[in-house]
Amino acid sequence: MNLFALRGNIVYSKDSKNLELTEDGWLVCMDGVSQGVFQELPEEYAGARVIDLKGQVVLPGLSDLHIHAPQFAMRGNGMDMELLDWLETYTFPTEARYEDITYAQAAYSRFAADLEKSATTRACVFATLHTQATLLLMEKLEKTKIKAFVGKVNMDRNCPDYLREESAQKSLADTRRWIEESRNRFQNIMPILTPRFIPTCTDELLEGLAKIQQETSLPVQSHLSENLGEIAWVKELCPKSHFYGEAYDQAGLFGSNGKVLMAHCVHSSKEEWELMKERGVFLAHCPQSNTNLSSGVAPVKEYVKEGIRIGLGSDIAGGYSTSILRAMADAIQASKLRWRLQDEKAEPLTLEEAFYLGTVGGGSFFGKVGSFQKGYEFDAVVIDDSRLLPPHVLSLRERLERIVYLSDDRDITGKYIAGKQVF
Ligand code: GUN
Ligand code: FE
Repeated sequence: MNLFALRGNIVYSKDSKNLELTEDGWLVCMDGVSQGVFQELPEEYAGARVIDLKGQVVLPGLSDLHIHAPQFAMRGNGMDMELLDWLETYTFPTEARYEDITYAQAAYSRFAADLEKSATTRACVFATLHTQATLLLMEKLEKTKIKAFVGKVNMDRNCPDYLREESAQKSLADTRRWIEESRNRFQNIMPILTPRFIPTCTDELLEGLAKIQQETSLPVQSHLSENLGEIAWVKELCPKSHFYGEAYDQAGLFGSNGKVLMAHCVHSSKEEWELMKERGVFLAHCPQSNTNLSSGVAPVKEYVKEGIRIGLGSDIAGGYSTSILRAMADAIQASKLRWRLQDEKAEPLTLEEAFYLGTVGGGSFFGKVGSFQKGYEFDAVVIDDSRLLPPHVLSLRERLERIVYLSDDRDITGKYIAGKQVF
């Protein structure tokens, strides 16, 4: 039995309305699973190895539900463009570089190193269409101990010759081979089916991927209703679909065959939300990307109220920061603009809600993840916020808020994933 207890200032969520705040408390882990948070260490855990964090703050590990690993190499470029121009000008040329395994080696090493020292413990990652580089990315991420789904991207139309799979058949055959090679190879990394988005995938490709999902029960990730230009294009490409999500659904890729995660949903119609709710489709809210690529502000407050399953994503490199703490702050800021400029009835997100999204909200995609309630997998990060403290005393909630807005990777002093200490 592996039993240890962290002593410190502990914050976590049980729901989106409240924060559970315990000053100078105890967080107990047994065999990789949280036993709960206590003000005093219970007698039954008296034999636990004690790690005294001396006043530091302990948070659940954070989940990044949407991140493009190859785009880490172009963060900050093209931030004055809109989605479709940005894809053509920066993203596709950058992704094409990963055909060169030497380039992939150098770029993915930097990506993995950044994620390793961050507060992220779980992630859903897009790679590129290149099988070999995707396997390399999986190897690099495995070493970080982060638990992640990684997707070889499928794209067989409406993209430049230099970054397009030659046919749906070839794309599907490569995908099958990649799944076979990666499925049982890693402890922490699993494949996820990744059609890029409707404009770059033929019906034949989407239907083939749905068949693979039926056979393998792997999850699916993609993009949905992100940007007005993109949505208008999908309308033209799919005259038989009443809404964007229906184009995935007609192929069998919208939760009818298993777990699905869609990024953005900035401009989803009521019909689209209803179907997402009914099918349990997860939503990755990426506020920084939605601002940078002029996509808009998703109605996150309503999604939470409706009970849609939702978490946060960095969407590197639509977003330039890999920090999910930063994504919490961005989500609050963006929601205020939506409230002021777009919808007076849409109240802004609270700290409680944003923290919930970045922890349990996104964590739920991976199972019982993102909270310290008894029975949750033990993902935790330790933050030394002494650099951020003013001369006066703050409540633990105020300290958390300053961590969300002001901290960076320098302040992270410890990280545990499923009970294993990373550093
Ligand atoms: N839609 C299709 N591809 C992409 C991508 O790489 N990033 C974003 N943000 N949206 C997309
Ligand atoms: Fe994206």
